[in-house]
Amino acid sequence: MVHFDDVSLYGTPKEEPMPSIPVVSEKVSANFLKSQLQSWFQPTDNRLAMKLFGSRKALVKERIRQKTSGHWVIHPCSSFRFYWDLCMLLLLVANLIILPVAISFFNDDLSTRWIAFNCLSDTIFLIDIVVNFRTGIMQQDNAEQVILDPKLIAKHYLKTWFFLDLISSIPLDYIFLIFNQDFSDSFQILHAGRALRILRLAKLLSLVRLLRLSRLVRYVSQWEEVYFLNMASVFMRIFNLICMMLLIGHWSGCLQFLVPMLQGFPSNSWVSINELQESYWLEQYSWALFKAMSHMLCIGYGRFPPQSLTDMWLTMLSMISGATCYALFLGHATNLIQSLDSSRRQYREKVKQVEEYMAYRKLPRDMRQRITEYFEHRYQGKFFDEECILGELSEKLREDVINYNCRSLVASVPFFANADSNFVSDVVTKLKYEVFQPGDIIIKEGTIGTKMYFIQEGVVDIVMANGEVATSLSDGSYFGEICLLTNARRVASVRAETYCNLFSLSVDHFNCVLDQYPLMRKTMETVAAERLNKIGKNPNIMQQKDEQISNPESNTITAVVNALAAEADDCKDDDMDIKENLLHGSESSFMGPVQTIREGLPRPRSGEFRALFEGNTP
Ligand code: CMP
Repeated sequence: MVHFDDVSLYGTPKEEPMPSIPVVSEKVSANFLKSQLQSWFQPTDNRLAMKLFGSRKALVKERIRQKTSGHWVIHPCSSFRFYWDLCMLLLLVANLIILPVAISFFNDDLSTRWIAFNCLSDTIFLIDIVVNFRTGIMQQDNAEQVILDPKLIAKHYLKTWFFLDLISSIPLDYIFLIFNQDFSDSFQILHAGRALRILRLAKLLSLVRLLRLSRLVRYVSQWEEVYFLNMASVFMRIFNLICMMLLIGHWSGCLQFLVPMLQGFPSNSWVSINELQESYWLEQYSWALFKAMSHMLCIGYGRFPPQSLTDMWLTMLSMISGATCYALFLGHATNLIQSLDSSRRQYREKVKQVEEYMAYRKLPRDMRQRITEYFEHRYQGKFFDEECILGELSEKLREDVINYNCRSLVASVPFFANADSNFVSDVVTKLKYEVFQPGDIIIKEGTIGTKMYFIQEGVVDIVMANGEVATSLSDGSYFGEICLLTNARRVASVRAETYCNLFSLSVDHFNCVLDQYPLMRKTMETVAAERLNKIGKNPNIMQQKDEQISNPESNTITAVVNALAAEADDCKDDDMDIKENLLHGSESSFMGPVQTIREGLPRPRSGEFRALFEGNTP
């Protein structure tokens, strides 16, 4: 019976040890050992497991599945496999560095320490094969379903990496020496031709161990996938590539020396030319590495160009491998640099396209200039598909992000600052960012309106039919609401005086939100009536609705309007009419107080809300 009441460090239910039965102490300890081992082989809540199964509940289910399968199988997400892989990784790196040096520069193939090192590492790699036979397999097409049937695991392993792992793990060189009948005799006369040839062949066979590189690549890529996501993965890939280049350079250096050594250092080989036959191994290795690196980085041939045919072929080999690594490195580095500044790159691409479009359509010079300026102001060098980014978030997260991004807009618009937070949240999530250039007619008198605007930054003029500027509105004000409230035509034109960063609210969203918050509608209607009055239009178009307002509601509206006024009160001049300023925004004739209000309220930073509610925003 399995219990999962206990909770691990990460909050995952832990499996309780088997209930203890009063039996002899050996049986108890055997049971304990067994349950300990089993828990080591079961998936824990590490990153790989969480990525694979998604939730702790699914993880518990997986543990039960493994338990019920009844086999001694190691789960790929278990702690055991994690630590085993870690040890194997370290051993592999050590092997892949030490082996070529020992084979090429040391002639102690039969020394005890070398045999001990080889035997130990070979044994561990053979054990790794056994462990692989008992490790569950994660399927590519069905990541959640790990194969836990030993027969299927074996079949899969035999079909894939088994033979490569086996060849790189069995001590072929020693087997070859043992099975060579003359070996013991020839060992006595080591320098005799046949014995020397045998030893050289054994040396070549020991190179097969380098095939362990395949394991390294496998383990590293598996870890990369799980532990390094996003940007870290790109850095990791470059780091791996640099390490791989250094490793190949190291191998190539060893090979540069090994081949002439196996040939008995012919007089035209680079080792003889440099008189390195009898030098200390470190000196030999340094010159060999220098030579290999010179080829690989296409810088030269080392100290001397190749003189013998073998040297030439070796040089060609390291040139090819070096150039391949170099190309790979360049590709990855370019990829990294591009992904580092993707929004800026996208912006540049967009601008390039627009420039080509303008040329294609043969647009006049001043229009091109305006378009370019618009792009600069609108996107400020960065281009995001914000609609897409926000669309991929959960609804709650999206709302939170939008509310956060709009915090200064909300603070600077008195209408929002004093409103119900739910109302504010409902409105800001429906806003759309728009930019207008100086002189743009944002609203044309007499037309039918489809949206209203909140000013984040900039100054607009309210222009009457006779061309007179009735008033100016600036940061924190709103306009275009009268038409939406009355369903009539626009009562005035609105013209951008400076660059204006506005947030628009469509008529549908406007009605939808105000239907839910009738008090806010009435507040807006009160403001609208005063605005109409101010420009000499009949405020009675609002009246019908006003008449329906009951006494307590009317008091609430007054309270809200007064609250709005009170906020502005701190910043206003003594002789300024609070409501005038609040309700009508900054009139051109009262520019002084408007500036005071702007200072008192947190001014939205330029570009902060840029097109938050619209796709393609910086
Ligand atoms: P609307 O009629 O939809 O379009 C023109 C807008 O100008 C109008 O809504 C108001 O928002 C705005 N407006 C008109 N008169 C004034 C005023 N006196 N003060 C501030 N804004 C005004």
